[in-house]
Amino acid sequence: MRLTTLLPTLLSISLPITSTAAKPPAPSRLWATHYNGNVYTLSLDKSTSNLSITDTQKTCGKMPSWLTFDSESRIVYCSDEDGTADPSTHGSLTAYHPDRQGRLHEITSVETVGGGVDSVIYEVGKEKFIAIAHYEGSAVSTFKLPLNPSSTSAQEFHFKLTHPGAVPQQDSPHPHSVFLDPTGSFILSPDLGADLLRIYSISSTGKLTTCPPVNVTFGSGPRHGLFWTDGTDNHTASTGTGISHQREMAAVGKTMLYLVNEIGGTMMTFDVSYARSGCLDLSLKQTLVPYPAADQKDHKLPSGATPAEIRLVGDKFYVSIRSDQGFTPGDSMVTLDRVPGDGAVKVGGKSNAWGKVPRTFAVNRAGDLVAIGNQASANVAIVRRDRVTGELGEKVAVLQVGEPGTVGQAEGLSSVIWEE
Ligand SMILES: *[C@@H]1O[C@H](CO)[C@@H](O)[C@H](O)[C@H]1NC(C)=O
Ligand SMILES: *[C@@H]1O[C@H](CO)[C@@H](O)[C@H](O)[C@H]1NC(C)=O
Ligand SMILES: *[C@@H]1O[C@H](CO)[C@@H](O)[C@H](O)[C@H]1NC(C)=O
Repeated sequence: MRLTTLLPTLLSISLPITSTAAKPPAPSRLWATHYNGNVYTLSLDKSTSNLSITDTQKTCGKMPSWLTFDSESRIVYCSDEDGTADPSTHGSLTAYHPDRQGRLHEITSVETVGGGVDSVIYEVGKEKFIAIAHYEGSAVSTFKLPLNPSSTSAQEFHFKLTHPGAVPQQDSPHPHSVFLDPTGSFILSPDLGADLLRIYSISSTGKLTTCPPVNVTFGSGPRHGLFWTDGTDNHTASTGTGISHQREMAAVGKTMLYLVNEIGGTMMTFDVSYARSGCLDLSLKQTLVPYPAADQKDHKLPSGATPAEIRLVGDKFYVSIRSDQGFTPGDSMVTLDRVPGDGAVKVGGKSNAWGKVPRTFAVNRAGDLVAIGNQASANVAIVRRDRVTGELGEKVAVLQVGEPGTVGQAEGLSSVIWEE
């Protein structure tokens, strides 16, 4: 009866599933931005180590600089770094829907404050927002998502220097990134120009409220950072539908912040506590040079070398070092250990970035591959990562993506991410 009519259907459905199981695994995909105005889709066939460009699009304004993938809604956001703090100029934010081949289809593009270099998505209940760090624009701005053609910024925070910086690069405030704390209740933005860690609390309406910023040592030029948590700081426990805001519950757990400073060439560790004021208290624990001691010059990075990106997988940190030429003609990736207990950082070894100026890199979700975006040589290098030891290993593939750029100029490959 019912069952007998159902059975043949189930059997016939199972056939194509069996036959597809024999096919090679789907390629891994990546997206990369280049300051030449292109956004690229890359495909990595893991069985043959064939890394290739499968799509090139002139999009994301004049200076595509950064990609953020919201894997839940499957929307890619691209920041265009064009424009400055002069309000007659602007950058842009473009949203795309990737198809099954990883080709990006533009949903919409909107004007933003100039100089967008990084973005982060945050949620309040069922609503989503994106915050953008504007380097040349000396600002942080937010947009409510989804974007539509008439979207304008929900909030803009514009900054001015209160005292001169240490070097010409610190001529004005330069927010270099934005990232969330582990509870999803705060946004931090390292400001390279002002030597500040700017902090915003996310209100229940999605509005950002300014918290007192944290001073970073004069001349440090903070660039990128990330949090570590033991997962017990759950004062803002996720409710499943989003984030509830229960600040009155004092935190009991351990949360730490790790920061890399471009100009000072240092890495800093902070203990983080969730203050009853509704803001974050940070206390500096350690300042170190994220580079093997034997290769340091006068307890510093080699002359002209600067740290750029930082990532953490388990208890291993990775910091990319631009222009150290540790593996001529390649720069270096440094591996560091997080010491259990006090969370201090211990420098491990360095490995080849397989290109010049590793501005960005991304570890895949499986944790066995790292994609390095070398800006000046304009190549994407895929290296193996040992999932047990955390060490970076052999080169899997290196691909030229667009034309090389001059070191120190906004030219070349600006970012790379995995489609994950
Ligand atoms: C590498 O992959 C691309 C895209 O799938 C394909 O067009 C190309 O033929 C492949 N190259 C080799 C050597 O297999
Ligand atoms: C941060 O630096 C500013 C300017 O130098 C100073 O006025 C302020 O007191 C400092 N704040 C803290 C918490 O140290
Ligand atoms: C919060 O953390 C504490 C201590 O680890 C734990 O006992 C409690 O169940 C957690 N609460 C939620 C809502 O996750």
